[in-house]
Amino acid sequence: MSGIVIVGVQWGDEGKGKITNGLSSGADMVVRFQGGANAGHTISLNGEPFVFHLLPSGISVPGVRCVIGPGVVVDPESLVREIDMVSEHGVSVGENFMIDFGAHMVMPYHKAQEAAEEKARGEEAIGTTLRGIGPTYSDRHAREGLQIGLFADFGEFSARYRSVAERKNALLTKLYGAEPVSVDEALDRMRPLAERLEPYLADTPGMIRETLNDDGKVIFEGAQGTLLDIAFGTYPFVTSSFTTSAGVSPGTGVPPSMIGTVVGIAKAYVTRVGEGPFPTESRDERGDEIRRCGHEMGATTGRPRRCGWLDGVALRYAVELNGVDRLIITKLDVLDSFETIPVCTAYRIGGEATRTFPRTVAELAAVEPVYEELPGWGTSTRDVRRPEDLPEAATAYIRRVEELAGVPVAAVSVGAAAHAVVDFERLL
Ligand code: IMP
Repeated sequence: MSGIVIVGVQWGDEGKGKITNGLSSGADMVVRFQGGANAGHTISLNGEPFVFHLLPSGISVPGVRCVIGPGVVVDPESLVREIDMVSEHGVSVGENFMIDFGAHMVMPYHKAQEAAEEKARGEEAIGTTLRGIGPTYSDRHAREGLQIGLFADFGEFSARYRSVAERKNALLTKLYGAEPVSVDEALDRMRPLAERLEPYLADTPGMIRETLNDDGKVIFEGAQGTLLDIAFGTYPFVTSSFTTSAGVSPGTGVPPSMIGTVVGIAKAYVTRVGEGPFPTESRDERGDEIRRCGHEMGATTGRPRRCGWLDGVALRYAVELNGVDRLIITKLDVLDSFETIPVCTAYRIGGEATRTFPRTVAELAAVEPVYEELPGWGTSTRDVRRPEDLPEAATAYIRRVEELAGVPVAAVSVGAAAHAVVDFERLL
């Protein structure tokens, strides 16, 4: 059995898409298990960058079956747009693609609800991507959700949609004083989307288990990052799904005993989008330099990302929480020009140093990071492809990250291009 889980071990945007895409050529299946169109996975197709929101990152690799699992929330409009976009660029989305019947749908009222809620929160806004993710997962758990399997029977879907949308309109108008959503117009928009997506609907958990039982290679592709996990992230400044490796089972129907290796993806520094504490954030010109060199603007929302230094305490927490076996460090090249590179090795709380990641945002907001300054390498790593060709200081940096994380680094990414990777060991 050969499953690999790819999870982000920071606040998302670690470069999981590129890594998943790169590993896909050795895989039989790539499965998304959580999140929705809040994700923005940048993939290079024939040398051109594309942002995938819902399609699994292996979709462009011939012979790989791609699955949207039941733990994902699907915005049908966004998904059809994405299928059209990749099809126009020669990527076939046919029998190689399946959407599990049980995945819940993001409906127009979810986005309207989220916009009204974020506005009402005022100063306490979460800074969400406004893709309707939170309200869709809330409805799922409140048993008000619409599973995409309903698209197989548009009459049944319409009746359910109408009933929920009427309650949502009462909420929007009476509680938030917002505009109601139009029910008939939305149903008119949904009908062709249902027709487009129906051929992809499938009962997928058994297929994934069978692939694993037949010794096939399955990549479980995570979205967002560990610190955005609904249960173990920096609540309430989190997303609404289980972003850790534990999310694979409820998100796919594959039991924990079958999952296999867990690969954590970490940037060589840290970024965060949206609100919430970020101990190692660099608010000075060095943070601006990271943003500029790393093109750190949100792939989904275009918002500038907050940038800072690698946080060894948060990294160790994420490694332990996910059961990470191997780390992959991305965007090492972004640090090429820094004379020295601070790395956070501990937090100081009330004068005491600790390596324990706090469980409340109030405590996390109060910590003071303890830094170690590592020497920079002052030379470009962009063309490096073999570990022995990395500058000594870059290798020392990687070794220090391994010590802090407690697990080995399997590869380092040094540029956007698919081949810009230095492999220390083969994963798939
Ligand atoms: P939501 O997932 O849209 O509800 O947003 C909740 C929080 O997660 C916000 O801080 C977002 O900026 C953040 N977030 C959601 N998706 C991503 C992502 O793919 N990368 C980075 N941050 C994300």
